[in-house]
Amino acid sequence: MKSLIFLMILSIVLSSPVLAQEEKIKLKEGPGKKLVEANCTICHSLDYILINSPFLDKKGWEASVNKMIQVMGAPINKDDVPQIIEYLTTYYGKKESSQ
Ligand code: HEC
Repeated sequence: MKSLIFLMILSIVLSSPVLAQEEKIKLKEGPGKKLVEANCTICHSLDYILINSPFLDKKGWEASVNKMIQVMGAPINKDDVPQIIEYLTTYYGKKESSQ
């Protein structure tokens, strides 16, 4: 029984550096990166951005950022919003389909 508890503690200790690493998502370099990192990690990790990048075009990111502000209450400076949307669209926007 004791060894079982020891194993449980050991596995928690061993797994925590892995969890910490997962939080370290690196965004692509570009104007607006710092704003996104500063404003979009307050409530959740940046993987929300990565997961959604195949689906959101400029309109999508606009709606998403506005939802974060209006619905989730994100404290984002109004003046920073256009640059954040620009950055997300440029680096994490859905690619235009070639019509
Ligand atoms: C005030 C807290 C808060 C801040 C700041 C915030 N978010 Fe969110 N965000 C949330 C919550 C809560 C959810 C989960 C909503 C859900 O599951 O329905 C979420 C979900 C998302 C999603 C998943 C899709 C969706 O609409 O649910 C994306 C993409 C996203 N956030 C992007 C961003 C970006 C980009 C920023 C920075 C501009 C940001 N968030 C800043 C609270 C926040």
